[in-house]
Amino acid sequence: MKGRIFSGVQPSGSLHIGNYLGMIRNAVALQADYECIYCVVDLHAITVRQEPEELRAQTREVTAAFLASGIDPKTSIIFNQSQVAAHAELAWIFNCVARLGWLNRMTQFKEKAGKHRENASAGLYVYPALMAADIMAYKATHVPVGEDQKQHLEFTRDVALKFNHDFGADFFPIVEPLIFGAATRVMSLRDGTKKMSKSDPSGYSRIDMTDGPDLIAQKIRKAKTDPEPLPGPEALAADGLSLSSEVAVARPEAFNLLSIYASLARKPLSEALRVFGGVQFSDFKRQLTEVAVEHLGPIGTEMQRLMADPGYVDGVLRDGAERADAIAGPILREVQDLVGFLRVK
Ligand code: AMP
Ligand code: TRP
Repeated sequence: MKGRIFSGVQPSGSLHIGNYLGMIRNAVALQADYECIYCVVDLHAITVRQEPEELRAQTREVTAAFLASGIDPKTSIIFNQSQVAAHAELAWIFNCVARLGWLNRMTQFKEKAGKHRENASAGLYVYPALMAADIMAYKATHVPVGEDQKQHLEFTRDVALKFNHDFGADFFPIVEPLIFGAATRVMSLRDGTKKMSKSDPSGYSRIDMTDGPDLIAQKIRKAKTDPEPLPGPEALAADGLSLSSEVAVARPEAFNLLSIYASLARKPLSEALRVFGGVQFSDFKRQLTEVAVEHLGPIGTEMQRLMADPGYVDGVLRDGAERADAIAGPILREVQDLVGFLRVK
């Protein structure tokens, strides 16, 4: 084993291909080489208001997505965050380690709080300290995420370093982000400059993991494009791997759809450019629909089947919570000793 993996997904809306290609599919592949812990982060979800019944249903949906995508609950641990007390307890200690200056730099808070900063929950502000606690409660060494979580992982490294320094212990490891594949930042289908997001009010901005073939086809057909045919290999940057920044900026929708295609088909972007350079969007979209339906169809069907069997899903989470607690509990007690909490039992 190359180390211990931890990652989390919020049960705060429907899962989309950004979640799948940016994180879940990578999480599946990493099971071969790492000890893996995958968490449905319900404590993070309530940093913005959630309906209690929907939160429960979405917790089961994220679990179903993990299972349907190929995360094996026998070898990996799958659980929901609220059921293991160490997360909230370590988060409080990290709130006291992290500096306000670090939190003030977090771009996700600025985006999510928007113009009404005064009205955002205090939880949304300290969200990164909870995320650091999730990872450090297991002393995880590697974290698969999409590009948007990079800053939070740098924050996690800073908290771990400061804790080690303050308490004179080489206690927490310094985590490595694992951000890989051709689609580490999937953009909205309606606007190639905006991240594909669970909270976008337009369902046409994203392809959900539970969308059937007709809906996938319809959403891809309606996806925003530009009037030119698709760019070819001449649009590659000097590294021969990524798109040149001029083309990526000038034609964000073309870049996004090509990246989604490359990622789904497990091909490098350069190959997608070679195949589709000069092709009209209408022809390309038909092929994109084909790979999307082929890859997502069976996962969506399996998710629906699992969601109809909440007893099984809850059993997976129960078993996962017990195994997670057995790892995090002793680590938390060592942290409490280092901090100086008097143990009376
Ligand atoms: P969230 O939905 O914010 O809980 O994200 C769960 C995981 O999916 C995280 O690792 C994110 O980085 C990843 N993710 C979310 N949206 C996207 C996106 N549009 N493109 C790529 N990865 C994403
Ligand atoms: N913040 C992550 C997101 O919104 C979810 C998350 C919570 C997470 N805790 C984590 C991801 C720990 C990786 C590791 O996508």
